[in-house]
Amino acid sequence: MRIISTNSYEQMSVMAAGMIAAQVLLKPDCVLGLATGSSPIGAYQELIRMHEKKLVDFSQVKTVNLDEYCGLEPTNPQSYRYFMNKTLFEHINIDLRNTFLPDGMAENAGKESRRYQALVEKLGGADLQLLGIGRNGHIGFNEPNDYFTRDVHEEKLTQSTIEANSRLFGEGETVPTTAITMGIGTIMKADKIVLIAGADKAEIVQEALYGKVTPQVPASVLQLHKDVTVITCR
Ligand code: GLP
Repeated sequence: MRIISTNSYEQMSVMAAGMIAAQVLLKPDCVLGLATGSSPIGAYQELIRMHEKKLVDFSQVKTVNLDEYCGLEPTNPQSYRYFMNKTLFEHINIDLRNTFLPDGMAENAGKESRRYQALVEKLGGADLQLLGIGRNGHIGFNEPNDYFTRDVHEEKLTQSTIEANSRLFGEGETVPTTAITMGIGTIMKADKIVLIAGADKAEIVQEALYGKVTPQVPASVLQLHKDVTVITCR
């Protein structure tokens, strides 16, 4: 595991974007595993800047996102599909048909989970998976549990996650209580993993990287992966 400590959110974002751009340069038709939340926004802005300068070409890239809230239409500004379109996809030369997220509106979440797992597998898994981390150590929406989940599945969000994510929802908007997420197994199959974590996550990052490997701290499983880069900022 490589751990890179940077001095600012900007520096962390530039480094993460550099790793993603390097992946695209090395393999123009790669599969990028992408994440939502406030942590990756700076990296996405940097990728847009690099694209505008013609330093990186996304025309052959495919993307698979970690997760999506259940019950939110893709046109809902709180949905992760909307976030990805507005924060990244609409500003780079990616074919939207090559960008994938679970369908949060699927009537049968179990069936949709199996479909998404099969899709990720068919694409050969992510060449590089970008991750953020929740305050309770969750990755994707894999919440602390008694076991590590293997495949894409529907997850009931913990109260602390609902509260943490409610900051992004407006007054009167209800935060979904379930989501469809890649499983720990799906995430661990990525060839490379890049985890970015801001200063507010210092404590949980410490516990995840140096503590016991336990499903109670889902990100701790990354200690067992062969190629993880953690980029933190002060
Ligand atoms: C959500 C996402 C996670 C993300 C986490 C942290 O729960 N499902 O993938 O890592 O938020 O978000 P933030 O970067 O805003 O702290």
